[in-house]
Amino acid sequence: MKKTILLISILLCGSLFAKKYDQIDRISDMQKMEEGLSYIQKGFLYRCETGACFVKGGNMILEVAKTLETQEMEYFLPEQQKYAYKFGEKSAKMIDLYVKDLIGSAQAGHIEDALEDYNQILRQCNSCHMRLRK
Ligand code: HEC
Repeated sequence: MKKTILLISILLCGSLFAKKYDQIDRISDMQKMEEGLSYIQKGFLYRCETGACFVKGGNMILEVAKTLETQEMEYFLPEQQKYAYKFGEKSAKMIDLYVKDLIGSAQAGHIEDALEDYNQILRQCNSCHMRLRK
């Protein structure tokens, strides 16, 4: 019984203090993806040990893509763009897919394939920005 009450109060507190995903979160997540992309770029330009730059950068992007997929995309999008949430979800899924592929290709030493994935990731960023960003 005590445990149940404790559990309920924890849940209540959680929902009281859970902050809505807002513009500040969105911009900071976007900057994290940008940082991830530049790590990946370093992976192509420098000798990062055993693909470490690809993994580090890729994981930074994956983290955000997951946030985008699990956050209701409606909350994620700016007020006037909420209608486009399905499109946004799809972009996040595609990013997830290409990043995983990139890490795999890089680790297997298939750098040309990784470069192709990088290109596709950037395309996803860009197409969402062209459509949704003011
Ligand atoms: C689901 C749509 C969507 C996708 C996909 C997306 N972005 Fe964004 N991005 C936005 C929106 C919307 C803004 C504007 C945020 C705002 O001003 O509230 C933005 C803004 C940005 C900014 C500017 C942040 C600032 O400081 O103002 C950067 C950098 C950025 N995105 C990087 C990326 C990168 C890198 C990717 C791909 C890995 C990406 N974005 C994918 C929607 C997206």
